[in-house]
Amino acid sequence: MASSAQQHVNEESYSSRQQRSELENMADLPSELEKELDRLDEEFWISGDKLKQIVKRFREELDEGLAKHHQNIAMHQTWVHHLPSGNERGTFLTLDLGGTNLRVCEITLHGHEKKGKEKTELDQKQYRLPEELKKGDADGLWNFIAEELEDFVKNKGLDKQYTKEKPMPLGFTFSYPATQARIDHAVLKTWTKGFDISGVEDHDVAQQLREKIEERNLPIELICVINDTVGAMIASAYNDPKTIIGAIFGTGCNAAYMANLSSIGKMKEPDRRTASAQSDKMAINCEYGAFDNAHRVLPWTQYDKQIDAESPRPGEQAFEKLSAGLYLGEIYRLIVLELADQGLVFKDQDISKLRKSYSIDTGFLSQVEDDDSSFFTKSRSLFRDLLNLSPSDVEIELSRRIAELIAFKRRWAKALGEILGWSDEEKREGEGPIKITSAEDGSGIGCAIIAAMELDRLGKA
Ligand code: BGC
Repeated sequence: MASSAQQHVNEESYSSRQQRSELENMADLPSELEKELDRLDEEFWISGDKLKQIVKRFREELDEGLAKHHQNIAMHQTWVHHLPSGNERGTFLTLDLGGTNLRVCEITLHGHEKKGKEKTELDQKQYRLPEELKKGDADGLWNFIAEELEDFVKNKGLDKQYTKEKPMPLGFTFSYPATQARIDHAVLKTWTKGFDISGVEDHDVAQQLREKIEERNLPIELICVINDTVGAMIASAYNDPKTIIGAIFGTGCNAAYMANLSSIGKMKEPDRRTASAQSDKMAINCEYGAFDNAHRVLPWTQYDKQIDAESPRPGEQAFEKLSAGLYLGEIYRLIVLELADQGLVFKDQDISKLRKSYSIDTGFLSQVEDDDSSFFTKSRSLFRDLLNLSPSDVEIELSRRIAELIAFKRRWAKALGEILGWSDEEKREGEGPIKITSAEDGSGIGCAIIAAMELDRLGKA
């Protein structure tokens, strides 16, 4: 998903009201709705100065996380010491547990033998995570994962190709905050993205997964556990060695980068010795979704407060709850529901579906915002199919304007330019000194590359 953030940046250049002149209007809004939009515009608006203050605090929190344990932004050590050479090879299994899906992949890396997209071959199966699993227990989670893994391996006949003596290497992308004492170890600190599975926090997820693989007698060996951001960075660096950061703007948000060991003040001496034997660098999984958990600088609307209070972990992931994919749809739903409850929209329609928490996802928002079909027929069918609502022209217009207000899509490059002091030319999306590329299947491919580097390091390649 493209970068998104919740607030406006600068009234003159980025207000949604001004943006409207660039877009086709579906209908004029009655004055009471214009008034509501003005109120929302003000609530979601953020000045350039405020933005700079937020960035300053963000930098401080990154530094605090490197200096000490138990800070808002955790800055976790990952034991990934190198960017790839680009010549890593081999065939790997990867498991990717994200916020919405579980993906099992067989990935073949071709190294310098091939170029661009052809350097990697990927065969995958994606399973939607059942809602009840996200609130269940550890056994339910690992049984589900092991079952899908077994199913994948047996369907592809991999159980015949590999043996317990020569097992298939597995990489596990676990996209939650975890502390790592080694690359094949990861203790979950707290669930994020609405997960609330008992019996996993404070446990080594690598060990819990290994036990289930063992129970099923599968010829598979877990080599590494990684965060999706580290995977994205490594996958991108496999093709482009200039990569410096891996970032995810999905159900959750986060980034990783290669840090100098000397900058990680909190690293314990024995760890530092082990690490420096490898390299003077280590990838850091920032976990910046937890930025400003203490609410010192980030603006907090009534909708944000409600989302936080009703989440399984109130007080955590403050920044993520303001900006990530899982929550943008929910912010939108709360606003539309509020207007409906005031009798301003969807009068005399059944709004029971709209009342259901998290019934709108971010995809809905971007489809409404990007809808270029005549008379917005696409948006109309989205409303009908998902919410059982038939919007009038005014309601379509209003929905589009609320989506723009929340999702920030057209403004994020300008905001980045504002923070970094780019020229007007550079502020135009895609032309700034920072080149943003998309790492397709990055978390899976990156994980396979890290497994290849680790096997090489162990002399098992
Ligand atoms: C998790 C991160 C992850 C991010 C993106 C956050 O909720 O804490 O570990 O990288 O989501 O998936």
